[in-house]
Amino acid sequence: MTTTPRAGAAPLRILAISGSLRARSSNTSLLRLAVDVAPDDVQIALYDGLASLPHFNPDDDVDAPPTPVLDLRTRVGEADGLLICSPEYAHGVPGSPKNALDWLVASVELPNKPVALLNASPWATHAQASLIETLTVMSTRVVSDVTIPVARGDVGADGTIESAEIRRALRDTLDAFAREIRALRSTAAT
Ligand SMILES: Cc1cc2nc3c(=O)[nH]c(=O)nc-3n(C[C@H](O)[C@H](O)[C@H](O)COP(=O)(O)O)c2cc1C
Repeated sequence: MTTTPRAGAAPLRILAISGSLRARSSNTSLLRLAVDVAPDDVQIALYDGLASLPHFNPDDDVDAPPTPVLDLRTRVGEADGLLICSPEYAHGVPGSPKNALDWLVASVELPNKPVALLNASPWATHAQASLIETLTVMSTRVVSDVTIPVARGDVGADGTIESAEIRRALRDTLDAFAREIRALRSTAAT
C-alpha cells in the first residue's frame, strides 16, 4: 500500500538509536548519514543518551525513574518511529542497547511504535534476530529489517560515509519506512 503525505502534513519524527558506544562506530555513522539523506517529510534525531543510562534495575523502575530514563522515554514517546542500528557482540545484542530496551519494557511509550532495523554487517545475524524477538515481545511494530553493509573503509576519519551505494540504499529504506508509518496510521484511523 502506498500512502503519500498530505500536503502540509507535519514531518515524521524518527528517533535513531545506535547500539554502539564506539567513537568511530560504523553503526552510528550509518545513522548520522540517515539524518543527512532523510526525505523532506522525515526528521531524524540521533539518540545520544545510551551511555548515561544506569543499569536496569526493576527496583528503580518507579513513578519517578532516573532522569536519563525519563529522557529516553520522553524521546521515544515523541517519536513517530524508531530506527535502530546495532552491532553484534558474541552473537548477541550488546549490553548497552539491551539495557535501554529493558528500561522501556514497562513503559507506555513503546507499544505499537513502528521500528525499522538497520544492520551494518551481513554477519551480524544473531543480534538482529534477537532484537526482532525482543522488540516483538515488547509489542512494537517491526516493519523492516534491512542490511546495508558498511565496511571499515567506508567510514572516513571524520565518521562520514561517502559511498553513493550506501546513501541510495539508506534513502530507499527511509522512504519505505515513512510509507509504512503513514500506512499504519491510515489503517489505525479507519
Ligand atoms: C567484543 C566484541 C565481540 C564481537 N562479536 C561479534 C559477533 O559475534 N559477530 C559479529 O558479526 N561481529 C562481532 N564483533 C564485531 C563487531 O560487531 C564489529 O566490529 C562492528 O563493526 C562494531 O560496530 P561499530 O563499528 O558500530 O562499533 C565483535 C566485536 C567486539 C568488540
